[in-house]
Amino acid sequence: MKKKMFIPFSVPYIGREEIDSVVDTLKSGWLTTGPKTKQFEADFASYIGCRHAIAVNSCTAALHLAMDAVGVGRGDIVLTTPMTFAATAEVIEYMGARPVFVDIDPGTLNMSPVLLEERLRSMTPEERKTAKAVIPVHMAGQPCDMDAITGIAANYGMKVVEDAAHTMPARYKGRMIGSISPITCFSFYPTKCITSAEGGMLTTDDDGYAERIRIMSLHGISKGAWNRYSKEGSWHYEVLQPGFKYNLPDVLSAIGISQLKRSESLRDIRMKHAEVYSHAFRDMPGIELPEILSDIEHSWHLYIIKLNLEMLSIDRDGFIEELRSRGVFASVHFIPLHLHPYYRGKYGYAPSDFPRAESQYKRMLSLPFYPKMTDEELDYVIEAVREVLDGNYVKQGAAGGVRATGCNLAA
Ligand SMILES: Cc1ncc(COP(=O)(O)O)c(C=O)c1O
Repeated sequence: MKKKMFIPFSVPYIGREEIDSVVDTLKSGWLTTGPKTKQFEADFASYIGCRHAIAVNSCTAALHLAMDAVGVGRGDIVLTTPMTFAATAEVIEYMGARPVFVDIDPGTLNMSPVLLEERLRSMTPEERKTAKAVIPVHMAGQPCDMDAITGIAANYGMKVVEDAAHTMPARYKGRMIGSISPITCFSFYPTKCITSAEGGMLTTDDDGYAERIRIMSLHGISKGAWNRYSKEGSWHYEVLQPGFKYNLPDVLSAIGISQLKRSESLRDIRMKHAEVYSHAFRDMPGIELPEILSDIEHSWHLYIIKLNLEMLSIDRDGFIEELRSRGVFASVHFIPLHLHPYYRGKYGYAPSDFPRAESQYKRMLSLPFYPKMTDEELDYVIEAVREVLDGNYVKQGAAGGVRATGCNLAA
């Protein structure tokens, strides 16, 4: 291996425009939700092609507001995937509802629509009545099978709330993610496709949802600060319901506005990086490449490889440690939710309850992957992966003998 480098898992892309716009906002005298946030929302809605975009301070907040807007309540069921971050299911718990997990398609890691339907069929009629919503998660930036999920949701009278934390931008059969379901929730956390440091956005075409979300995102009051303290505003407001404090400040929206303009160019760079990785890994039999569907446009938020563990004398954790000792910092997305103490304890889940999520989890890792990566850094990661594999094949001479499958980057 060449001279040791340090390759972090993720580095945000922050340019001159982001820095200047934050400074301008700080100098403007208006720091919290105001004109910049209004502009961010308008730009986002026009980019997605939806009636409303509502900025909030995280995707978690967006998902929580979405659960409230579609009417999820105490004792209800919301179906989602175990292969996701804590946020997706915790918002269901916030409502006093029950997250019911549906296992994944092992190739894409997205919720399996076939298993979604099976799970609904297996419910008693009483349970089925309480199934209010489904939250598909577009893993790593690859859209779920939205036609299938939308159809099943309609048949069972459920609302679809998309967790699009990983997608920006992405399309499903030509349609922009954010314009398909009743509500879609985006994340602008620093590791995500675009960032505002912290932040999130809800998109919807439904005027009623939009109104409810706006009110609940700011204490359930009738008017935000901009409507009270700006020149056009008046001091009076009313509390309509106890809401939340989820508004996105202008200082952060300023970053978001600049990042949104870069959304496609950043995605294009990530896609090129993915091509470089996949081209190099194609001839490494210890690795299975990401499976890419043909009727979607991928955001390439994460580059996830799966280890063919039966060929290796090392497990996934050991593999990550070996990369780390070479200065390459990988991660895992995600530890399936049913393996965590809270969900195990509350609902009595065993690891084998979602065997696909469990088996993919044991073999997958996310490599460093971000637009700022240089060719040299990509090569360094590739060589580190090759070196760890070569040192850990079970049988001598296995390298080069088997081709990995499932990659179609052109799609
Ligand atoms: C799938 C998924 N959903 C939701 C979230 C929550 O996003 P945020 O940090 O903006 O609340 C994340 C963040 O990592 C995520 O990966």
